Amino acid sequence: MTHSTSDVFATIERDSERYLEELKDYLRIPSVSTDPAFAADVARCADFLRTRMEASGLQAEIIETQGHPLVLAERHVSDALPTLLFYGHYDVQPPDPLEEWRNPPFEPTVEGDLLVARGATDDKGQSYAHVKAIDALLATRDELPVNVKFLVEGEEESGGEAIEHYVRSEPGRERLGADAVVVSDSSMYAPGQPSLLYGLKGILYVEIRVTGPNRDLHSGTFGGAVRNPGNTIADIVARLRDPETGRILIPGFYDSVRPLEDWERKEFAALPLDEEEYRKDLGIAATFGEEGYSTLERSWARPTLDVNGLWSGYQGPGAKTVLPAISGAKVSMRLVPDQDPDEIGRSLEAFVAQMPTDGATVEVDVLHGAGPLLVDIEGPFAAAAMSAMQDVWGKPPVKVREGGSIPIVGTLNEVLGAPTLLMGFGLSDDRLHSPNEKFNLSHYYQGIRTTARLLDRAAEISGAS
Ligand code: BES
Ligand code: ZN
Repeated sequence: MTHSTSDVFATIERDSERYLEELKDYLRIPSVSTDPAFAADVARCADFLRTRMEASGLQAEIIETQGHPLVLAERHVSDALPTLLFYGHYDVQPPDPLEEWRNPPFEPTVEGDLLVARGATDDKGQSYAHVKAIDALLATRDELPVNVKFLVEGEEESGGEAIEHYVRSEPGRERLGADAVVVSDSSMYAPGQPSLLYGLKGILYVEIRVTGPNRDLHSGTFGGAVRNPGNTIADIVARLRDPETGRILIPGFYDSVRPLEDWERKEFAALPLDEEEYRKDLGIAATFGEEGYSTLERSWARPTLDVNGLWSGYQGPGAKTVLPAISGAKVSMRLVPDQDPDEIGRSLEAFVAQMPTDGATVEVDVLHGAGPLLVDIEGPFAAAAMSAMQDVWGKPPVKVREGGSIPIVGTLNEVLGAPTLLMGFGLSDDRLHSPNEKFNLSHYYQGIRTTARLLDRAAEISGAS
């Protein structure tokens, strides 16, 4: 390792307590993007980030949008140097169910090496590591080794489109020009095992609503004579998937699915996965998924369909004999290359429309969609990311895919025409979107070191700009 990077590491050591306190302040702001009740907190969070970025040596500003604001920041050193664009999100998922948290979700708590709070890993902790790397470099040296830009959004968790419009707009394209995009919003394959992510799933998220009689009815008097929306939503959802084989039954759903390549099947199979440990961690007796595929293949590279929410009728204690007037389901489909969310949406609508539902009204609303993505991990910037990970973690990264989605990454890739480096520092047991979300503090600091090291490695790439 070069002398200069080890100086930065000494700074990170020296300032580690402050980096933690700042992250805790960031986590105290409940920036839940999907719930309008939190809109003011989301805006306050954007402003907090802008202020912290300024204090770390970046020029930062808020970009107002139709939805939640974007935070944009930059430090330009020289036209002769490459430019890295860091993407992240400052919004978080709703914290419910609240009663399952050991401590309140927006009161960050340190438990040994763990920092527990909503957003700790997804994505405040991981993306703030980028900001602190800049802080550490500028506290050690006069200037950064490369140019940097930051684009941090407040709607990633709710499928908002503000960033999509901005990135595709004239000013957006101009402001965001970069030689590579860096994203830390994913997990490492295992503790201590750095990972370079090359595939994310796409998503199509729909809400299906069934409306029957004009009021809840006595289920004895009217049952059997009226189509029951509770039964009907169950019928619809049940017809979407084969319960035996896990295959999705929407006509044409698999038509454009790119099969796993042989080398991928081999690489996935070579990754250690303790199925028993996996089941134990989740409290399930058996894994289940599409026939003919391993657990990793199912979650990383095969399309899926899952109920995310389902409602109808009486939910309180005891029995109430009632035939519910309405019902609904929220259903997500995770897509893989080369599935197109718009096409899948049309097939789903047509499929539901021909199901036997007369006597009730069925509506299908698409809430959001994003395309799947495979990124190129050849090239000098991916090599710089891999050697930075090797330098800091002492091991070469493994190449992985993931089942999650980060909608804007595909658009950035397409619009900027720059390579994307998906370099996550989370762990698969970080409980993203669940109660007691956590980030290992050792990973927070390693993330800061890896980012600082990446800047030095990127500076060695000549003729990039
Ligand atoms: N950080 C996740 C994406 C992720 C999760 C990547 C796990 C790799 C591994 C991100 O914040 C997220 O949750 N995205 C949403 C996007 C959706 C709302 C459009 C997702 O995947 O559910
Ligand atoms: Zn998330």
